[in-house]
Amino acid sequence: NWTMVNIADESIEAVREQVGQKRAICGLSGGVDSAVAAALVQRAIGDQLTCVFVDHGLLRKGEPEQVEKDFVAATGVNLHVVDAQERFLAALDGVADPEQKRKIIGREFIRVFEEAARQIVGEDAPEPVEFLVQGTLYPDVVESGGGTGAANIKSHHNVGGLPDDLQFTLVEPLRSLFKDEVRALGEQLGLPSEIVWRQPFPGPGLGIRIIGAVTRERLDILRDADAIAREELTAAGLDRDIWQFPVVLLADIRSVGVQGDSRTYGHPIVLRPVTSEDAMTADWAKLPYDLLRRISTRITNEVREVNRVTVDITSKPPGTIEWE
Ligand code: XMP
Repeated sequence: NWTMVNIADESIEAVREQVGQKRAICGLSGGVDSAVAAALVQRAIGDQLTCVFVDHGLLRKGEPEQVEKDFVAATGVNLHVVDAQERFLAALDGVADPEQKRKIIGREFIRVFEEAARQIVGEDAPEPVEFLVQGTLYPDVVESGGGTGAANIKSHHNVGGLPDDLQFTLVEPLRSLFKDEVRALGEQLGLPSEIVWRQPFPGPGLGIRIIGAVTRERLDILRDADAIAREELTAAGLDRDIWQFPVVLLADIRSVGVQGDSRTYGHPIVLRPVTSEDAMTADWAKLPYDLLRRISTRITNEVREVNRVTVDITSKPPGTIEWE
């Protein structure tokens, strides 16, 4: 569409002017915002940009591949991937408190990112990297301006959101845009629809969807259950009607079940589909019963450790979208 063509051209020109011949880096989270920001800056300055993707092991099934293959294929961007799964698991070992988890994940992310940035500088940059690209949107600008209220209920470590004491000048080409405009821009820039239409996903990832301590086994269980829920939602053609569809593993709780002739003692999972305009408020989504049944049947059949599927029917407020 014509306006998006204008916005894209103008933003690309503005980035060229700001960055000049210098180098920039950009953290990719797998989310829409960082992907569109990176794609736009890549158009503007090409190989002067290097993207860094920290795989913290808390992503959903297929997401690392989406960044490593689809995004690179669509943009031709220079990508530096850091496999930090072991490091995050070690740092999270035994930690069940939600805010603790967020702090640890945010801290580790920054450390890994800084190390990667230094490495990039050492390896192939004749001069230091001066610019850091961030996918800040207009609502983020407004929300962080206040500093009180809902934005502070949970500490939002947006993976991709980095502290001020990093020695970079920020490039924020999406600062005046809303989410729907960012999606339109992403399409304009030729990003695949799986990236452009991805539902929001929290920076701490599956780490805050496991109620209890995070372990590799628990992550695998949740990843399998989550993949089934997403697959069925997509098959039902409801992706764009649902704002977000967290699947939560109640890892510290067990419930009794029966399968075939034997008693099982597995974990419950919670489906948390919501509708929303901006995540500040949300309503539980009335998914069709046959869809819920398919998800429940498949998860209990295919994910051995899960023997009970429940649906969260709490609006926000009083519930939040995530369970932690
Ligand atoms: P809640 O759970 O507070 O979530 O209703 C509102 C929106 O924010 C996302 N969320 C996060 N995003 N880092 C993020 O980048 C976080 O720590 C975080 N916590 C929640 C959540 O997925 C929803 O879209």
